[in-house]
This record gives sequence, C-alpha cells and structure tokens, in this order.
Amino acid sequence: MGRIRVLSDQVANQIAAGEVVDRPASVVKELLENALDAGATRIRVEVEAGGRRLIRIADNGCGMVRDDALLAFERHATSKIRSSDDLLSIATLGFRGEALPSIASIARVELTTRPPDSPAGTRLEIAGGKILAVEDAGGPHGTTLSVRDLFFNTPARRKFLRAETTELAHVTALVTHYALAHPEIHFELHSATHALLTAPPVSEASERIYQIFGRETLDQLIPLAAERAFDHAGLPEPPPWRRDADYAPPDPGRLRATGFVSRPALQKLNRNSIYIFVNQRLIRDRLILHAITEAYRNIIPPTSFPVILLFLEMPAHEVDVNVHPAKTEVRFRQQSLVHDFVRDSIRATLMKTRPGASFVDAMTASPRASSALVPESAVEDMLVSALPESEAPPQGDDAASFTLAPPEPHPEEVPLPFSAGMASEEAETAAVARANAAFSAAPELGPGATGLRPSPNGHACSAPALPEGGEPAPSLHSLASLKPLGQLRESFILATNDEGLWIIDQHVAHERVLFEKILRERQTERVERQRLLMPMLIDLLPAQMVVFATLADELERNGCEAEPFGPHTIAIKAAPSGLGGGELERMIHEVLEQPGASAQSDNLEAARTRIAASIACHAAIKVNMPLDPARMEWLLAELARTEHPTSCPHGRPIALRYSWKDIQRAFQRI
Ligand SMILES: Nc1ncnc2c1ncn2[C@@H]1O[C@H](COP(=O)(O)OP(=O)(O)O)[C@@H](O)[C@H]1O
Ligand SMILES: [Mg+2]
Repeated sequence: MGRIRVLSDQVANQIAAGEVVDRPASVVKELLENALDAGATRIRVEVEAGGRRLIRIADNGCGMVRDDALLAFERHATSKIRSSDDLLSIATLGFRGEALPSIASIARVELTTRPPDSPAGTRLEIAGGKILAVEDAGGPHGTTLSVRDLFFNTPARRKFLRAETTELAHVTALVTHYALAHPEIHFELHSATHALLTAPPVSEASERIYQIFGRETLDQLIPLAAERAFDHAGLPEPPPWRRDADYAPPDPGRLRATGFVSRPALQKLNRNSIYIFVNQRLIRDRLILHAITEAYRNIIPPTSFPVILLFLEMPAHEVDVNVHPAKTEVRFRQQSLVHDFVRDSIRATLMKTRPGASFVDAMTASPRASSALVPESAVEDMLVSALPESEAPPQGDDAASFTLAPPEPHPEEVPLPFSAGMASEEAETAAVARANAAFSAAPELGPGATGLRPSPNGHACSAPALPEGGEPAPSLHSLASLKPLGQLRESFILATNDEGLWIIDQHVAHERVLFEKILRERQTERVERQRLLMPMLIDLLPAQMVVFATLADELERNGCEAEPFGPHTIAIKAAPSGLGGGELERMIHEVLEQPGASAQSDNLEAARTRIAASIACHAAIKVNMPLDPARMEWLLAELARTEHPTSCPHGRPIALRYSWKDIQRAFQRI
C-alpha cells in the first residue's frame, strides 16, 4: 500500500492558518481587509484579552447572502478574482480565499451578515472548521465576525502567544495603520470597555494623523507629494500575432507618493515608525526601506531611523502582491524606478523644507529621545559630547553656569528655568516619542497635550496643505542673520538674532560646510587640493591595502592623490586643501578601515559620501580652537548657505536655539 495520502480539509486549513494567522493581530488584519474590500465606511473592532479571548469586527459593507456566507468558509473561495490573469492586477486587499477557512479551523467563529438589499440576514457558527449552526438573523446590514478562543484546538500555537498587553499593542498598531491608510473611513477600536481609538471620517491623511497622534507629531512631520509617469508598462505586451485588431498598448499609468516624512531632528532607534503602504496595503519592503535610508543619508546618523508614512499608488499591474501568504510583501515590476522615485521625492521634500527645522529640536535629536523623556543629565551629555574627553567639564559646574536663575533645591522636580526651556521641548519631544511609540502600541495620546505650537491659522484641526505645507517656518534667514558674540570654551560659538540666543558647535558646523562643498566640487570633478612638498608615506595593513586599491580613484576625485609605494605603504602626493599632517593620515586610516569599506561591498554613492564626510571631519575647525569674530561670522554665513544646516554628516546637531520666548519665560516676564 502506498504511503501518501491527501490531507483532510481541516488539516490543510490549519496548515494554511499557520502561514496566515500567527497572533490575534493577524486575524484582525485579515478581517479588516475583508471589511475594507466589502466597501465598508464604518469599521468597529473589539477585542478582549488582547484578542485571545475575543476579536469582533463589525462593518457596514456589502454583506453576504446565505450561500456566499457558507461558501466563504470553503478553502480557496473568494469573490475577488476568477482567473490567473486577475492575479496580474489585484485591486482588492484579499484574493487568496484562505483567511476565513484558516481562522475558522483554529477558533470558534460566529458570523452575522446581511446585504443592504436583503431583508433577512444569516447567522453562522463554526468551530474548529465544523459548521455548528446556520440560521436566519436580522440586524443592520453589513457583516459582524466574532472570533473566540484563538488557537483553542492548537495548544502548541497558543503557547507562542505573548502577554495580553503585547498582543493588544500589536492589534492596536495594526488598526492604527489601517486607519491611517483610510482617513475616509470611520474606525473604532475597543478593548473590553476601553475605547482605544475613535477616528471619525476625515478628508486628509494629515487630519487622521492629528486625530490619532495629536498636533506635536504632525508638527514634526513634513508633508510629501510627488508624482511621475511610468515610462512603460511593467508587464510585457502580448506578441503582435496575439493582438486583436483594436489592440491598444496599455497606458503605463502613473506613480504617486504622498505621506509624511520626519524632520531630521526626530530620530528613532529602529524602523518601527516607518510605514509603507502600496495601494493602501501596509507592506514591509526592503527596497523602499533602502530608498528611505538613502534619502536620509548624511542627514541623520546611520544608526537612526526617521518616522515615515508613505503611501505609494500605482496601477495594480505594476505590483505583484501574490508573494507572501500574509500579503505583507510585494514585488514591484519596475523596482529601480520605484526605488529612485521614493528616494528622490523624500530628498526633495527634506530640502524644500530645510529652513523649517527647529533648532531646539536638535537638543533632543539623539535617538535616545525615542523611548522616554530624556533625563536632563543626558542633555548635558549632549552639550559636552563634542569636547574631547579630558576636556569635558564636570557636569554640575557647567549646568550651573548655564542657569538663568538660582538653582532650585530639587532640580528634577522644578527644573531650572534655562533647562525649563529644554524641558518643555523635551516634554514635547517625549510626547511625540510616546505618540510615535503608539504607532506600535496603544495610541492613548490625545491631541494638544501641551499646545506649544498653535497652528498658523488658529484652526486646531486644520492640516497642512499637502505639497506646500502651511506651517510656521522659522526661516533659514534667521540663521543668516546671526551675529556672533564670542566663544564658549573656544568650542561653541554664541550668537544672537531676533529669535534668541544660539549655541553653535563650531566643529560640526564647519564639518557640514566642508562636506557639502566637497560633494559639490566632486560633482564637477574639481575638489580643491594642495600638492605636498614631500609625499607623505602611510603604512597600511594588508586588508587596508585591498580597500585602498578599490577606493584610490574615488579618493583622487576628492582631492587625495595617493599611490602604492611598496607592498604595505602608500604615498600621498596631494591632499584636499586644509587637510594635512596627522589629520590627513587619520582620515586615510578611517576611510580604509571601515568594515565593508571596499567599493564592491557598498555602492559608490555610499563610498563617496563616506569619504567626503571623513575629509570634512578631519579638515574642519576643531573644538578648543580660538576663532576671531571675522572667522565666526564667515562660518555662520557659510552654515546658513548649506542645504542641511541642522545636522552634521554624522547626524549630530549643529545648533541649539534658546528662543526669545523661553528666555522671557525664564525671567518670568511672560
Ligand atoms: N466583511 C465581509 N463583508 C462581505 N463579504 C465578505 C466579508 N468577509 C469575507 N467576505 C467574503 O468572503 C470571501 C472569503 O474571504 P477570505 O477568506 O478572507 O478570502 P479573500 O478575502 O481572499 O477573498 C471574500 O472573497 C468575500 O466575498
Ligand atoms: Mg480576505
């Protein structure tokens, strides 16, 4: 007798369930997608015990007649596609016909459904894949699906469930994402008796962000809108002999990106605040993530991540969604076009609003601000971090010398006024951080927690217009109008203008200036260089010699002419102007020492910016260097001219501003 047998439907469904349903949030995802596909305008999600005990989703969509309701629980039963051709252009969120039978095989499911035009509805009860009851039922039109006791018959899977709060956080994050992608739909999420999210319909994504996360988050985000036509359709056309007489080549269609990207000051430690939607489907995609990282390269540190809500829209045939059982991955038919479009649109958006960055935000730009309120000592750390270690002043002393008012006995409870300026900013950023944490947890944050930044037109709920943005931009002119007062410890420039008092880190400011200059000159192949009177010999390790071979050309273009001089040595004949002696040697070692530094392992663009950043860092004015007023003025003017005056190429903040308002507040004049 043979040993192969066909598995029963129940087992097959449980296997499918293993791919589709791994936790309550994935059930919620499938049911939400069904509700959206059914054209619902109101969706209410209810969970108990993080979704382990109950998940109930009620929608006011098209409902199902009784036969369909029964069929819906059959394997591979779907109303969304008919033939394999339809797979090439899927316009719905679902299409596999697997979700309902999978879920019904591992939980107790109750369905009530009624189409709007039918007087009678249907109630269906299924547990562990077995139909227990089918009967008539009344109720409003639409569909309500209750899923109880998830994994009740698969104990092994139940064991993998996390604490209720963790599961609830996942469910909340998920509903939040879908709510963000569909501002026109009313979403509600309740846990037991708690309303976690209530979002009535609005017309713009920005209003939805405001509803869910509040003003602070919205203020940290820059709206993005870009569009381009596809050059050609991504799918091959049929050969000429298979075309009808009235064959018309397909319209290549357009690629659109809308959404929000964070200002450089807002940084996260992980990718959890990056949301990518393709045709309103939330996806994970390495290609797009890469494009985002490229866009922020040298604007934020390589170890930090921005907050992104990106909605890509393209013709359905340009994206294959049939890649992953949970439909969370896609394949673009024109990958590099989509990648470059995303990178360039984000870059353009960041450049356009460059002056809008608030410099005080730089105080909290460190990604450690991501998780919680930054302790004041951390802020002091940041202030002194630019100093060499031996030079770092004792914190207490310097903090005291910063105060504008006598120190309080308990600074943690009643912050010093000068730090109060920071503290309020911190509180704000922390609120943002919390709100953003809510991207992946419960969005408990109400709007207007501090009300620090009123909207320009005074209308609380109004959203920035998409492309131009209507927010109050502290303009770049403010930077150009800075007048230097002097130096602090020969390391930081103190300067003033109408906006208040500024502290500028002279090293990173110059670093940014040089970095952009080198990149600019590099483009026209004219990086300023000086010939060395005597070639400088540098000994390298064997691995560095290998890397040198791949980077010698690029170094040459950046003004650093070097050639091998024996098996372990290179000779530098010319160096970028301003860079000599020990700094030149350190720069060479830095460039050649990075792990994966060779030109093969990272792309040329990355190598290029790394070399430019390294030259800029080593050629820049140092801390502990006296500057005369003319030099300070020159540096501030040059900084004002840069494209990204907010952060150095390694992502550190350049300037801190103490606003006039904060100063007045500290002196209790307002
Ligand atoms: N909330 C709903 N409202 C109306 N019809 C629904 C709903 N949920 C499921 N259906 C119907 O049941 C079918 C099967 O659902 P599902 O198993 O999720 O597969 P898919 O969504 O891939 O088609 C759907 O194609 C749809 O016709
Ligand atoms: Mg479905």
